[in-house]
Amino acid sequence: MNLILLGPPGAGKGTQAQRLEASRGLVQLSTGDMLRAEVKAGTALGAQAKANMDQGALVPDAIMVDIIRERIQRPDCARGIILDGFPRTVAQAEALDRMMADTGRKLDRVIEMKVVDELLVERITGRFTCAKCGAGYHDRFKQPKLAGVCDVCGSHDFTRRADDKQATVTSRLEAYHRQTAPLLPYYQARGVLQPVDGMAEIDQVTQQIERLLNGEG
Ligand code: AP5
Ligand code: MG
Repeated sequence: MNLILLGPPGAGKGTQAQRLEASRGLVQLSTGDMLRAEVKAGTALGAQAKANMDQGALVPDAIMVDIIRERIQRPDCARGIILDGFPRTVAQAEALDRMMADTGRKLDRVIEMKVVDELLVERITGRFTCAKCGAGYHDRFKQPKLAGVCDVCGSHDFTRRADDKQATVTSRLEAYHRQTAPLLPYYQARGVLQPVDGMAEIDQVTQQIERLLNGEG
């Protein structure tokens, strides 16, 4: 099964993709995580991406398409992928269509995670992540069971994203509405778009997605 999780910054794409990876054996492809790994490794690509990311702007399509083209050809993706953060423009969606056709794959569903802007700011500015295993948390909505200790790997080391500041969040939301929201009619026209209420609690969003994937939605 090949899925896209589509939604604005902070909609819960990463949270739900990690759960689907565990429950369905799919591979999460988060372009944001890939770019942050490049930044951390100090590569030339990372330096170029960081300039865009720090402004809350999108990284150029050609770079993103190359990254995904290389990644989906790796053997692990044969078991199915969850695209988290890609595509983000109509040009990226068209490139994805070509890549899927070229590699004999089918895009099964695009799950739209609907959340109003007002909620997104609180979600993003309260987010933190385990520095060791990448598990996601939130100051208010998802604290570790034991304060200061990662539920998944036991690490005591947490990190916050450089682009999760209030000012950058506003630019990221603008980029979403202007450049990414046109993907909704794009996928609606192809009959693969299915919405979920991303404003429900995390477990309830997971249940909605699982129902859709089981054909019960
Ligand atoms: P990326 O990393 O993809 O960021 P994003 O799309 O802005 O989305 P986020 O990761 O912020 O949110 P999310 O939906 O994953 O939410 P999460 O599950 O963490 O991209 C970063 C940057 O990289 C972009 O700005 C751009 O510059 C560049 N980039 C990446 N891909 C690109 C592309 N294809 N083209 C061009 N540029 C690209 O949840 C958020 C918080 O809320 C968490 O703390 C979580 O615990 C909490 N939460 C989640 N669900 C719920 C819920 N239901 N109720 C309450 N709290 C919840
Ligand atoms: Mg994310």
